[in-house]
Amino acid sequence: MNHQTMKTVDTPRWRGALILAALGAALALGGTANAQATSAPAQPRTGAQIFSSTCAACHQAQGEGTPTYPPLAGSEWVNGAESRLVRIVMHGLQGDVEVQGQVYNGAMPAWGTTLSDAEIAAVLTYIRASFGNQSLPVTTATVAQTREANAGRKTPWTIPELLLIKVGDRK
Ligand code: HEC
Repeated sequence: MNHQTMKTVDTPRWRGALILAALGAALALGGTANAQATSAPAQPRTGAQIFSSTCAACHQAQGEGTPTYPPLAGSEWVNGAESRLVRIVMHGLQGDVEVQGQVYNGAMPAWGTTLSDAEIAAVLTYIRASFGNQSLPVTTATVAQTREANAGRKTPWTIPELLLIKVGDRK
């Protein structure tokens, strides 16, 4: 077999493969477009869904925590002033934090850039009413006010800083 014959044998095979690949891509694209056209408008995610995709990896499925990640179940921060809780989740938290008599010292990421006001309200309302917690819901309006009042904040909160925030009667 010399080069000349290899070329004449290979060329048609290549073309066939290219055509098949192009057809496959066209079918795949058509399929996606169809699925998008026929699917219902996206539902907002529930607090439970946001919790399991965003928080449970660290705080665990029942909010029980680990030796590294503090519990949300029975936490005085989850069940305490909503102004502090919203800030913790929106901008993050660093340094010592005491939860149920245990001191943790880690870094909680900020979620204010990935979660909307409504999503933060939904997940906080969920954790305040789950794992045995029985605290009032957090409204989207409260989250929006907190976001506006802290526009430009880039750094995580510390507990001493949060304790300086005046809290109203409403927990
Ligand atoms: C990557 C791990 C991680 C994820 C994900 C995470 N957290 Fe945290 N969280 C932490 C750590 C670590 C602390 C403690 C920070 C410190 O020591 O200052 C903390 C602290 C907290 C606290 C205050 C202490 C307590 O236990 O009550 C709350 C409330 C909280 N997180 C809520 C949330 C919520 C709600 C989500 C999801 C939107 C979330 N966290 C996602 C790691 C995480």
